[in-house]
Amino acid sequence: MATSLLTTVENRSSVDTLAEAVHRPVQAVLQKRPELRTTLDGTWLGHPLHAALTDFPVGAWATGVVLDIAGLGRRKKGLDDAAFTAHAFGLAAAGVAALAGLADWSYLDGKPRRVGFVHAALNTVAASLFGVSLLLRKNGRRGAGIAASTAGFGIVIGSAWLGGVMSYHYGIGVSHRAFEQGGPSGFVPVLRNDELVEGQLRRVVAEGAPILLARANGRVHAIGDTCTHLGCSLSAGRLDGERVVCACHGSQFRLRDGRVMVGPATDSEPHYETRVRDGQIEVRKSGLNGAS
Ligand code: FES
Repeated sequence: MATSLLTTVENRSSVDTLAEAVHRPVQAVLQKRPELRTTLDGTWLGHPLHAALTDFPVGAWATGVVLDIAGLGRRKKGLDDAAFTAHAFGLAAAGVAALAGLADWSYLDGKPRRVGFVHAALNTVAASLFGVSLLLRKNGRRGAGIAASTAGFGIVIGSAWLGGVMSYHYGIGVSHRAFEQGGPSGFVPVLRNDELVEGQLRRVVAEGAPILLARANGRVHAIGDTCTHLGCSLSAGRLDGERVVCACHGSQFRLRDGRVMVGPATDSEPHYETRVRDGQIEVRKSGLNGAS
């Protein structure tokens, strides 16, 4: 049943109209505020921020539901107050997590964008129910408040499943080089030296590992070629000083060590040592000792 629900969402092109109406303003805001985008991407944390933040609302709301259940059939002010605080904290935390989620979603299109939109819409409905629940509790209507928050929590569980689909099925937030080969341990030739001119980017493959070669300021650099964000080839990007800028969404990686400097990518690239022998550029995994 869950699979057929997912297929329905994935193939529902009517979602695109609604999704586009949200996507455009979100992109416009984030493009105008690059510092906000960088913060929400989680590059500074070395981890997608949205995934790190979602535990807070889900955990707080789950705590609130448990406290509500513990207080069923008896009135204990301490339990009521604790449940109210847990639900209120969850609502506030959901707002922050949603901002980071919107930033992640703004890079998507096709089926992942549709599923992400439904995930966000369900969370909005759930958050509204928690908001209504707080108001009802404030006005002394505890039973109705518990009913609203319990319904909201049920929706959160369904939405969390869709969030899992985004990560485990589409690989959003997962390093897109996670399953690639590590590359050669010893130096192997990959390209004739005169085929790489200053400022050029070239993709080569060594022992199954896609590698980006770049010549900047006369030096040959080699890092992983698959952008860790959503998998574009960095060789289609451009050089900016001693960084390569991904053509898809602008992540920047430092050539001298593969480190991610600007998101949305949060994971760095592997770095390879280079040398020129007999007119050939040779590479091997960085950080190895031994024969050259
Ligand atoms: S694939 Fe998104 S920045 Fe490279």
